[in-house]
Amino acid sequence: MSVPSTLNIGLCGFGTVGQGVWQHLTSHRAELEARLGVKLNLARASVRDLKKKRDVKVPARVLTTDPLAIARDPAIHIVCELMGGTTLAREVTLAALWRGAVVVSANKALICEHGPEIIAAAQKHGGHFFFEASVAGGIPIIKALREGLVANRFTRIYGILNGTCNYILTQMEEHDAPYAAVLAEAKRLGYAEADESLDVDGWDTAHKASVLAWLAHGVWVKTDQMIVEGISRITPADFKTAATLGFGIKLLAVITRDFAKNELSVRVHPTLLPAGNVVANVSGVFNAISVTGDVVGTTFYSGRGAGRDATASAVISDIADAASLLQHGKGAHLLGEITAAPRACRLAPPQHVLSRFYLRLTVRDQPGVLARVASVMAKHKVSIASVIQGPADEPGAASLVLTTHESDERAMGATLKRLKALAAVLDEPVLLRIGDFER
Ligand code: NAP
Ligand code: HSE
Repeated sequence: MSVPSTLNIGLCGFGTVGQGVWQHLTSHRAELEARLGVKLNLARASVRDLKKKRDVKVPARVLTTDPLAIARDPAIHIVCELMGGTTLAREVTLAALWRGAVVVSANKALICEHGPEIIAAAQKHGGHFFFEASVAGGIPIIKALREGLVANRFTRIYGILNGTCNYILTQMEEHDAPYAAVLAEAKRLGYAEADESLDVDGWDTAHKASVLAWLAHGVWVKTDQMIVEGISRITPADFKTAATLGFGIKLLAVITRDFAKNELSVRVHPTLLPAGNVVANVSGVFNAISVTGDVVGTTFYSGRGAGRDATASAVISDIADAASLLQHGKGAHLLGEITAAPRACRLAPPQHVLSRFYLRLTVRDQPGVLARVASVMAKHKVSIASVIQGPADEPGAASLVLTTHESDERAMGATLKRLKALAAVLDEPVLLRIGDFER
């Protein structure tokens, strides 16, 4: 096979990430070409709106509104799908793979929803699919799992996978900042998804958890098979109460595998972490991931999890891997698309998923209410560890924060259902898990 001396790169999407890739690939082109031994040509880029003002200027002839034309162009060796969404992005990805091209993707929603189809298309037609930018921004966690830690079975992977949420939680915790204003700032900084509910409701973290679970365990876990809870109901008061108890609050993805039972659990929820936990101390847009393997023990990764520059770094690393692959062939390194053989394991049932819980209830401030709450919990064998009562915003109401000893998701779910039905419980309860990961 003849190896081209110049690799043509097409960017489908020229927004936050696409412009970052153009800017940094251009500024680092000479070093990259010297290291890779091949010329890198940014040939085309597609947008929705040709008239939109952009920070990164490119010749008008380079821009098109037709991403499929880039995907299908036989002269383009590396197609970067940086648009987002799961409809046109899927078509673009498949069109490029069907002609045996390399696709570089930052699109975790697409991978979570259509991963098996994409990998099958790559394998059938000789294309390749790279996706380092899809999880944890600039942190090379895909390479770490696939290559650096290949010797391991992963018993636990947990961490902060959404920069927007960590930015919001940090601003709320440190500056008592109002949720809506911080979210608007995260959008302005280019951290948030076009549909911000993907971030704050936990779905983006769930998409990334799905990608990591697949890499680590060879199993595709859909978001409807996970617990997925977001951050929108957490208040500054929760941070204060958590701090009194010795915890911080982070939105975490938690992937655990019980090899004895052969069960996998993938979940996303706001979590109380002990103040000394290393992940609890990762702030702002930074992501953090703790990976425990049976051979290596626990390893830890942190870095910017969103934004133009961090994400461009990950996309360019995939472009470099693609260049190396196109020159040296499949199998020269562990660079090709993942071929993790599905290893049979089942999803853990809720009664096998254990943790301690933090439960905040807004209740009528009346005699006997605490006893009724305690009785519901006792009925479901959920043992109370501590109770903090304080004022609530509503007149005649009290805020009741209970923590529990270890219980399971089924018992806690049933408890919550009964508590919601009590006349004395005034608002939707807030339930957070307590992460005892370093025990
Ligand atoms: P963005 O700023 O909204 O950019 C999207 C780009 O795609 C824009 O150039 C847009 O055109 C174009 N586009 C969108 N829909 C299109 C359509 N239907 N037809 C043609 N062009 C279309 O998004 P982004 O933040 O760069 O994110 C891109 C991808 O990277 C997403 O999958 C996202 O999840 C992922 N990602 C983002 C980050 C981050 O920090 N931003 C980090 C990691 C991964 P116009 O410019 O004309 O609107
Ligand atoms: N919206 C995502 C985040 C972008 O905030 O983490 C990076 O995937």
